[in-house]
Amino acid sequence: MLRVRGAGASGFWASCEGRAIGLNGGMSVKEILLHPDALLKKKCAPVDGVTPEVQALARDMLETMYDAPGVGLAAPQVGVLQRIFVMDCTMKEEEPEPLVLINPTLVWTSDEKNVYNEGCLSLPEMYEDVERPASAVMQFLDIDGAQQEREFDELWATCAQHELDHLNGKLFIDYLSGLKRTMITKKMMKVKKERARE
Ligand code: NI
Repeated sequence: MLRVRGAGASGFWASCEGRAIGLNGGMSVKEILLHPDALLKKKCAPVDGVTPEVQALARDMLETMYDAPGVGLAAPQVGVLQRIFVMDCTMKEEEPEPLVLINPTLVWTSDEKNVYNEGCLSLPEMYEDVERPASAVMQFLDIDGAQQEREFDELWATCAQHELDHLNGKLFIDYLSGLKRTMITKKMMKVKKERARE
């Protein structure tokens, strides 16, 4: 899950709240795993065919992402170690654009970089600046199993790269200094303890 905070960015997560995206079928909101969790550190396996089960998982992931709300969610965050993520970085006033990326590969990144104050629903309320390529091209299968190639820019590029990292067991805090990462992990262990008591 990618959450973004910063100048004018509050609209990004608010943008997903209460949106009906018009996907068919009984969707359900899944529980999002919190860091630290061994499943968030694993490399995910390629999806072997876009079956109805995979499509149902993708719809559930979109539902979970919009419910959170967030702009991206990767399968390992709901405990599924498969190479699939969903995202929608449109603003509140725009038409929703739910995207499903199955077996995504990064085929190009720009030399130009961008810094976003990133967050992640697996690390609620933790935000840090991360620098990534400003633009990225990915190839993937869509929810119908069709091969796609798309160029992403700005928040879309950051989100797509953040989510692809999740499929390789990498979190945005892995871009930070060891000290910052340790501090955030300690805070998260406390948060998890508190939640377990609730
Ligand atoms: Ni995330």
